[in-house]
Amino acid sequence: MTTYMTGFGNQFATEAVQGALPVGQNSPQQVPLGLYAEQLSGTAFTAPRHDNRRSWLYRLRPSAGHPPFTPIGTPPEWAEATPNRLRWSPQTLPEDKKDFIDGLQPFAGNGDALAQSGVTIYLYAANRSMNRVAFDADGELLIVPQSGNISIFTEMGRLDVAPLSICVVPRGVRFRVELDAPASGYVLENHGAPFRLPELGPIGANGLANSRDFETPVAAYEDRDEATELVQKFGGRWWTTMLDHSPLDVVAWHGNHAPYRYDLKRFNTINTVSFDHPDPSIFTVLTSPSETPGTASCDFVIFPPRWMVAEHTFRPPWFHRNVMSEFMGLITGAYDAKAGGFAPGGASLHNCMNAHGPDVESWQKAVTADLKPHKITDTMAFMFETRLPLRPSTLAMASPTLQTDYDACWQGFPKAKLPTKI
Ligand SMILES: [Fe+2]
Repeated sequence: MTTYMTGFGNQFATEAVQGALPVGQNSPQQVPLGLYAEQLSGTAFTAPRHDNRRSWLYRLRPSAGHPPFTPIGTPPEWAEATPNRLRWSPQTLPEDKKDFIDGLQPFAGNGDALAQSGVTIYLYAANRSMNRVAFDADGELLIVPQSGNISIFTEMGRLDVAPLSICVVPRGVRFRVELDAPASGYVLENHGAPFRLPELGPIGANGLANSRDFETPVAAYEDRDEATELVQKFGGRWWTTMLDHSPLDVVAWHGNHAPYRYDLKRFNTINTVSFDHPDPSIFTVLTSPSETPGTASCDFVIFPPRWMVAEHTFRPPWFHRNVMSEFMGLITGAYDAKAGGFAPGGASLHNCMNAHGPDVESWQKAVTADLKPHKITDTMAFMFETRLPLRPSTLAMASPTLQTDYDACWQGFPKAKLPTKI
């Protein structure tokens, strides 16, 4: 049973052993209990106060004590960026043993990890707990479970995350993913600015994802003097080294660069009560801003259960072409723009300026529906919406789950009938 502290981006303070946190200063000459003080900076030292992310960790040994890292595995290969609309059926769970890191399948990406810009999107499927510890120097990890619970033992405490919840492990924070059954889902590796809550503008002080519903674990550590592999993602590939102890040895910490989880069912959905529906940005849970105001490096957007009440309105997502690029997944249920083909665990990619929207069957139903208040239930789709076009991986393009007939869902729309010329 893990205890959590609530609030988004708060300055938390927590200790697993009483008296471990120094009082009144971060790095005293002698740290209480003989611990080592270490600052973990998630933003530049001089980032504005409201953007600044950092935590002070108090640990059994300094993180600096490790041999050199050596590269392992092969970096992802990227296919040509394509204007074509792509959709994948759900993946199959692995037959051989895979932990969370083995089970990360790069699917799409943009930007550059070394330039600290853009995103890499993975599907994951794992069937055993990690017996190693990992961290990601290339970005924070937004994990969206689709099947199976995961328990993440981070340097800063334990997070239990089930489907319909998400979690974020900040850049650099060490973690081990533990499973009691096979698990699969989606991961977004955010190379850019850390996710934050979107501004609410005229919505006011409350609504969408409320700060108090984000949960950060209290400090927890393990005191284990045995050989432990430590892997890190750096420069687009994985590296490894061996320690003679567990690096999950932080006894106390304070700060705001910390992991968190969020229950998507708590999202306070805002929508129209008159006609039309607002742009899908109204469903933004978290946003990673770019240097251009209002243009996210990545938005995490959900399509949760909600009432549809708009009068004389085409209620499903409309046909559109978007300068931003859209990678979608489905956690459970059905998505209201598609009658079939987009299944839980599947994915789709609609790149910059390429037309998409409801399929013929969904359109037909929407334009002939008797419009009464209607509740969309038992669904949770999401979108990673990103400012730069996404390149699919060669693995994604070669996957047997890639649907070769996706374009067909937009075939057969009847031509509009204009009045006959006199
Ligand atoms: Fe779209």
